[in-house]
Amino acid sequence: MSKTVSMALVRDQKTIGPLVKLLTLEAPEIAKNARPGQFVHLRVNDGPAPLLRRPLSLAGADAGQGTLTLIYRIVGQGTALLARLKTGDRVDCMGPLGAGFDLDCERPLLVGGGMGLAPLLYLAGALCPRPVAVLMGGRSQEELFWQGLFAEACRHIHITTDDGSLGRRGVTLDLLPELLAGGEFDRVAACGPRLMLEGAGRLAARHKIACQVSLEDYMACGVGACLSCTCAGADGRRRKVCADGPVFWAGEVFAL
Ligand code: FES
Repeated sequence: MSKTVSMALVRDQKTIGPLVKLLTLEAPEIAKNARPGQFVHLRVNDGPAPLLRRPLSLAGADAGQGTLTLIYRIVGQGTALLARLKTGDRVDCMGPLGAGFDLDCERPLLVGGGMGLAPLLYLAGALCPRPVAVLMGGRSQEELFWQGLFAEACRHIHITTDDGSLGRRGVTLDLLPELLAGGEFDRVAACGPRLMLEGAGRLAARHKIACQVSLEDYMACGVGACLSCTCAGADGRRRKVCADGPVFWAGEVFAL
């Protein structure tokens, strides 16, 4: 799939959660070619400071509007610079990059923790009107602002919080066995902490459900050139998360 570098126009940027921003960019060529699970690489600059590149998952793309939706948490210098962008600014944006999710399923369950819910939001929209269910986890109710974002595309929303302030107390892997035991899903798609992904892959395999996972490893170049993102596959062969993934079948990257 072709990637493009463009000076994307900032349409809007707003705060949607604790230190979490939703950024809408106008980048028609990228929006036209994007698919759920892919990411873009943004380059932000602060005068004499070094250029900082940031890979960000696509939380949505609208080919008709020519827009991309990005949701990110402010965690360091690069994302702090991104957070300063305002309507009318331009940002160097390369994409779409990486391999996305397989959409060939009928009854998917999406499993996400924290910012791993961003690419799943795009996936949920693409799978709708199929009966999409999502299992989302966070530390507390405050982090589950995602509920409103997923409401339109998902038929069922299951929630866990570490402190029990919303949904079931615990983590996603505590509730997942119960959901899979119901026999209603033919696909699991997960994004979040690595332990969660591995656990979701194992549980799905136990129920003979195909599972895809989106890895969130550190990426520098984003295009397969620097080898900063390689990980060992289940067969011992190393894979580049940015180019071979970030979405893999769980059995490719975990011993299930
Ligand atoms: Fe450079 Fe993947 S980020 S090879």
